[in-house]
Amino acid sequence: MTILATSNKAPEDPQVHRVLLGKQQILVSEDEPLLPQLERAGVTIEYQCREGYCSSCAIKLLWGKVEYPVEPLAWIHSGAMLACCAIVKSDIEIGFF
Ligand code: FES
Repeated sequence: MTILATSNKAPEDPQVHRVLLGKQQILVSEDEPLLPQLERAGVTIEYQCREGYCSSCAIKLLWGKVEYPVEPLAWIHSGAMLACCAIVKSDIEIGFF
């Protein structure tokens, strides 16, 4: 099942990427961090600060590329990402700890 989490971009736009989560495929854009886009797609992720301080929103990044416009203060483990402040830059696969 594919869910379009980005409101104003077409799936063929180069700034739109696929996020694989189990059997779900969610289309997200580079316009905002992953967390609000996953929320609009109906995916629940724990969070507290939403600003890169607490790491509550850490999820597994199995493959693919994300970037942080501002370096988060929270520690990011190898193979993990902070959904609240990461911008998806390629197709990615994610999972939960
Ligand atoms: S919610 Fe605090 S670092 Fe993401």
